[in-house]
Amino acid sequence: MSDQHKVTVELGTRAYEIHIGSGVLARAADYIAPVLSRPKLAIIADANLAESHLPVLQATLDNAGIAHDSYLVPAGEASKNFTQLAALSEWLLGQKIERNDCIVALGGGVVGDLTGFAAAILRRGTRFIQIPTSLLAQVDSSIGGKTAINTPSGKNLIGAFHQPDLVLADMDVLKTLPPREIGAGYAEIVKYGALGDAAFFAWLEENGADVLALNEAAMAQAVAKSCEAKAAIVARDERETGERALLNLGHTFGHAFEALTGYDNRLLHGEGVAYGMVLAFAFSAARGDCPEADAARVTAHIAASHLPSTMAEIGDGQFAASALIDTMRQDKKVQNGKMRFILAHGLGDTFIADNVHEDELRAFLLAQGAQDA
Ligand code: GLY
Repeated sequence: MSDQHKVTVELGTRAYEIHIGSGVLARAADYIAPVLSRPKLAIIADANLAESHLPVLQATLDNAGIAHDSYLVPAGEASKNFTQLAALSEWLLGQKIERNDCIVALGGGVVGDLTGFAAAILRRGTRFIQIPTSLLAQVDSSIGGKTAINTPSGKNLIGAFHQPDLVLADMDVLKTLPPREIGAGYAEIVKYGALGDAAFFAWLEENGADVLALNEAAMAQAVAKSCEAKAAIVARDERETGERALLNLGHTFGHAFEALTGYDNRLLHGEGVAYGMVLAFAFSAARGDCPEADAARVTAHIAASHLPSTMAEIGDGQFAASALIDTMRQDKKVQNGKMRFILAHGLGDTFIADNVHEDELRAFLLAQGAQDA
């Protein structure tokens, strides 16, 4: 099996390629040069990568004769704010970055979302390239053009749809990530199988341990398959008027646990999605929408992947059903006051449900171990 993959996001004149494999960062200029209008770009990088991946990118650009300057963003979610956005936008203007120039985002989801949003508004829309360095960003946030910052009112509430011109996913950069972060990114890979591709889910049941162990071919295959799945959905529903919402499988439940654990490292986003998928399938089975056996396979694979599959594994394990439900009411998917869940008819067969009654949700959460409060 080849460990070099190319996926195209088919968006007509805005179509772009995702290159996946080992050594992609060291060869980045080969992919970047053809998309540039002139040999100059600006790099926005996670400050934690200043001594590791940034010099690799700078070297390949130097070899190709592409001029570049870099701006470092402090690591962490707190950087996705108006203050950072203003500072890096001024810096980009100072660099005389033109609308047809490219801005490169080198980092995880924080840098990708922030840079993408800056690119969306700089000179009313500047081109940008994503070089995601976390697994979660490689399989999800770097693809599809959702860009945003956070405000005190909530996460990702100010943003724009703005597609990149190129995405480069290097398998080598994953080797420096802590195993827990790989696991959290892996949950998003499982999501693609669970939401729309039962054969891929079965492949992950067989090969997931190799992916988590960073076997290059297995990892590249899993990332490519995930990128293909996301690219296809984005091409069909770029603005999330329908099917794209399925990418939120596990997110309504997951976000509630993330919010109640303070978005801190007691529960990483991908871990919340993992447990959220367990609950989404178990809830579907409890409602009679999905075979119990499929829900059991999701729980078993999440547990086998060392991700949380029970409430007891999250924080102190104590969650009031009413607090969980209140948090779910704040979800971005709420429409006309109705909670919307991504539920399943079976593995690889999901749907948007907006007929969930609070009473059945409460009874389900109590059965999963939530407290009657
Ligand atoms: N992360 C979900 C989406 O891009 O639609």
